[in-house]
Amino acid sequence: MCILAEEVNSMLTLEKVTAAYSGSKVLFGVDIEAKKGEITCLIGRNGVGKTTTIRSIMGLVDTPSGDIQLDGKSIFKLPVYARAKAGIGYVPQGRDIFPQLTVKENILLGMEANKSVKEIPDYIFEIFPILKDFLQRRGGDLSGGQQQQLAIARAIVSKPKVLILDEPTEGIQPSIIQDIGKAIMKLKEDMAILMVEQYLEFILDISDKCYVMEKGRISMSGKTEELDKERLQQLLSM
Ligand SMILES: Nc1ncnc2c1ncn2[C@@H]1O[C@H](COP(=O)(O)OP(=O)(O)O)[C@@H](O)[C@H]1O
Ligand SMILES: [Mg+2]
Repeated sequence: MCILAEEVNSMLTLEKVTAAYSGSKVLFGVDIEAKKGEITCLIGRNGVGKTTTIRSIMGLVDTPSGDIQLDGKSIFKLPVYARAKAGIGYVPQGRDIFPQLTVKENILLGMEANKSVKEIPDYIFEIFPILKDFLQRRGGDLSGGQQQQLAIARAIVSKPKVLILDEPTEGIQPSIIQDIGKAIMKLKEDMAILMVEQYLEFILDISDKCYVMEKGRISMSGKTEELDKERLQQLLSM
């Protein structure tokens, strides 16, 4: 598949990022690198700061210090819409599909981030054929798994350089998890993928690199195949 017009080596870099809610710190200097051709996973227990990390990248939370770069250019001071425009696609935790809008309308909203995209590109339906049949259905009438596919479609329709997914398998049945895994594997050839995930089997199956977060800090990172699986299991169990 070729989603981006030109051959680019997209890379997202976080350097010593801190984040806070109403002045109380949640992230304490997070370093992460995600590049095209790889699926990078951010993993860790509930409440350690994974979603806050993602929200920091999107500009949705106060980040007192650090830097975030897209292809070497800082996006750290840019407002939310400008980060999306710079080429970051975002699939939020819980999906945030608009239930009253049709599938087509939900996808069209994603095109706002890239005005050069005038109609829904064919690759969307190559990756998620089901969406073509359901274009006129209301988002709220789709199953959880179909909504997740729609949320990913909405995020990639703008041809982003980086795709960020926050717990894409949460509350989704196993057969659709496999479909989503296959879709993400295809997409990594065209964009950097940064995925927050807690489902270990899925992580081991599809990720190339992992960062483990504990209490707002990265405690372990490396190639997925080289990580201590038992320790990962321990870290993820409650
Ligand atoms: N909007 C918010 N206001 C205040 N504290 C928050 C908010 N969102 C998250 N937190 C706190 O920040 C910490 C990290 O949360 P979060 O990033 O959602 O964790 P994770 O995604 O790893 O489960 C938690 O202690 C959580 O209670
Ligand atoms: Mg979260």
